Amino acid sequence: MKKVITYGTFDTLHYGHILLLKRARTLGDHLTVALSSDSFNTLKKKTSHFDFEARKALLETITYVDEIIPEHNWDQKRSDVVDHNIDVFTMGDDWAGEFDFLSDLCDVVYMPRTPSISSTKIKKITSKSS
Ligand code: CTP
Repeated sequence: MKKVITYGTFDTLHYGHILLLKRARTLGDHLTVALSSDSFNTLKKKTSHFDFEARKALLETITYVDEIIPEHNWDQKRSDVVDHNIDVFTMGDDWAGEFDFLSDLCDVVYMPRTPSISSTKIKKITSKSS
C-alpha cells in the first residue's frame, strides 16, 4: 500500500483544502492528515476559528482522508514519515522547497494551490458580515 501524508491547520475547511486532499489521495492508496494542534497553532502565531476537535471532526467526513494525527511541533515530520511508513509527503506549492529535506525518506510533492481562497480570506469576510 502506498501511503501519503500532508500537513496543515485546515481551519474553516474550504474548496482549496478539499481539492488539495483529493489530489493528495490520488498520489497513493492511503492519506494521513497531520492536523495542527491548538498549541502548535499558537506556536505558529496562527489564530484558528475552530479548535482541534472541530477541525478533526470536519476532516473525518472527507472521503479522501483515511487517518488523522496531531501535529504538535515543526520537528516531528521525519519521525512521522518513518513511524507511519510514508511513501509520499505532499503540500500545496506555497510551501515549495520547504520540505525537500525529507526527500531521503520519501517522495516530496508540491501541488498547485487553489487560487483566490484561504482560511484567512474566509475569516476576513465572515468577521465583516457579523
Ligand atoms: N491549500 C491549497 N489551496 C488553497 C489553500 C490551501 O492547496 N487555496 C493547501 C495548502 O497549500 C496546504 C493545505 O491546503 O497544503 C492546508 O493549508 P492551510 O494553511 O491549513 O490553509 P489556508 O487556507 O492556506 O490557511 P491560511 O489562510 O490560515 O494560511
